[in-house]
Amino acid sequence: MGAACCVAGGSALLQGCGTAVYYAEYQLTGKRLAVEKSAFQYTTKKGELHERMFVLVKPTGAAFPISLYRTPEGYTACLMRCSHQACEVEVQGSRYACPCHGSEFDIYGTALNGPADQPLQTFKLEENETQIFILLP
Ligand code: FES
Repeated sequence: MGAACCVAGGSALLQGCGTAVYYAEYQLTGKRLAVEKSAFQYTTKKGELHERMFVLVKPTGAAFPISLYRTPEGYTACLMRCSHQACEVEVQGSRYACPCHGSEFDIYGTALNGPADQPLQTFKLEENETQIFILLP
């Protein structure tokens, strides 16, 4: 049994070197965080449809967002908390980079460059035709 809540209105922010960061709407039911697959799409001012490589989800009260990243196989979800000393990592292209001491991780959370030597926390995912479900521990 779990409470359900809905956060309305996704928002786009600019971060660091101009990478567009989009916070997706979500619905939390129990420990299942549902994100619409349509959050990965956006329309430009010229009316062109584009695809985002990733969206962020930040459940109410959570200290760190979760990054939901599109991969060739589907999606992957990582907690954006550096495994070194818990700074918030940033998406930089197809990697996560930590602004504190320079650790880097691939989109699956694997540490590529130290000082971090442990992966980012990842989440199991399920999906249906229109939604992705992040399964919280
Ligand atoms: S906290 Fe991320 S590299 Fe140190």
